[in-house]
Amino acid sequence: MRGKPIKRIGVLTGGGDCPGLNAVIRAVVKTANYEYGMEVIGFEDGFGGLINNQARKLAAADVSGILPRGGTILGTSNRDNPFKYAVVRDGQKVWADVSDRAFANAREHGIEALVVIGGDGSLSIAKEFYDKGFPTVGIPKTIDNDLSATDVTFGFDTALTTATEALDKLHTTAESHHRVMVLEVMGRYAGWIALESGIAGGADIILIPEIPFSLERVCEKINSRKAEGKKFNIVVVAEGAKPAGGEMVVRKVIADSPDPLRLGGIGNQVGNELEKLTGMETRVTVLGHLQRGGSPTAFDRILATRYGAAAVKLVAEGEFGQMVCLRTPNIEAVPLARAVKELRRVSPDSDLVMAARAVGTSFGD
Ligand code: F6P
Repeated sequence: MRGKPIKRIGVLTGGGDCPGLNAVIRAVVKTANYEYGMEVIGFEDGFGGLINNQARKLAAADVSGILPRGGTILGTSNRDNPFKYAVVRDGQKVWADVSDRAFANAREHGIEALVVIGGDGSLSIAKEFYDKGFPTVGIPKTIDNDLSATDVTFGFDTALTTATEALDKLHTTAESHHRVMVLEVMGRYAGWIALESGIAGGADIILIPEIPFSLERVCEKINSRKAEGKKFNIVVVAEGAKPAGGEMVVRKVIADSPDPLRLGGIGNQVGNELEKLTGMETRVTVLGHLQRGGSPTAFDRILATRYGAAAVKLVAEGEFGQMVCLRTPNIEAVPLARAVKELRRVSPDSDLVMAARAVGTSFGD
């Protein structure tokens, strides 16, 4: 427990956006104002705002009405890392450590502690901030749900709901036209969105990064359904899925991003191959950033509110270098160092995979 009460904190949202960010900002500001009498300064566009001193005061009135809104009122960026920031010197782009500048800006605003809302990239920067001596607390966000230190990140449930609704819609048109419908979903190197939406949306085939697939096995499933009189197939493919012995499909490389690879394209590859191999008419839908937008589900609003309130409590108690997390049913805290150590990926032996297999879903293995 800290001696002197903290009067002013900073907050920023970093990395890719996700539904629920505004709900967390609201919870941080209201908890800080109402419970602890702290003021809040919001930094704009992730760590970029801290580096370039773009900030504004956030009072309870400023966050009123944002609970159901997607996106982030502060803006975000998945490029600006204060410890590796792109600057132009002598006409050349070079990487520089500008963390001292970020620290100085925080001090100029009278910030005594920083709340970082982010995924593994932003939380790794938060850890470096803390290691360098700045009191920092993290809140886990990402639609990918791939942080190992928490049961769930906020944003995942909303993305899952969007993907499930897409599968429901694809079902009806697949059935009408007797087609194979392939849905490519996000998730980076983890198959959570594909797996859980596939279960919730009754997909016939689920392809995830953790279980490399074979197209022959996928075709066997389609043929066995045909033999049962089923004339359509629903395939959900995670963007990171790959064939056994093959590689993930990279859509783009963004050099100044903490994770430069942008995945995407496996859906079309799978769709083209399945059409050739099965002779069934096939269509591909890439759900893309629809999964990142829109109003958060009730689950995400509640989780976001709990995370925001718990993070400010950690600050008030002087518990820095921690990330709030869900250990169902409780909100707890883990050291940032542990939070960013490894990605949480689907275990092929998990009960989720077993349940999907039990109801006849193929993983193409
Ligand atoms: O990490 C969230 C996420 O949406 C991933 O699922 C996806 O691979 C990536 O971000 C897309 O990033 P961008 O918005 O930079 O294209």
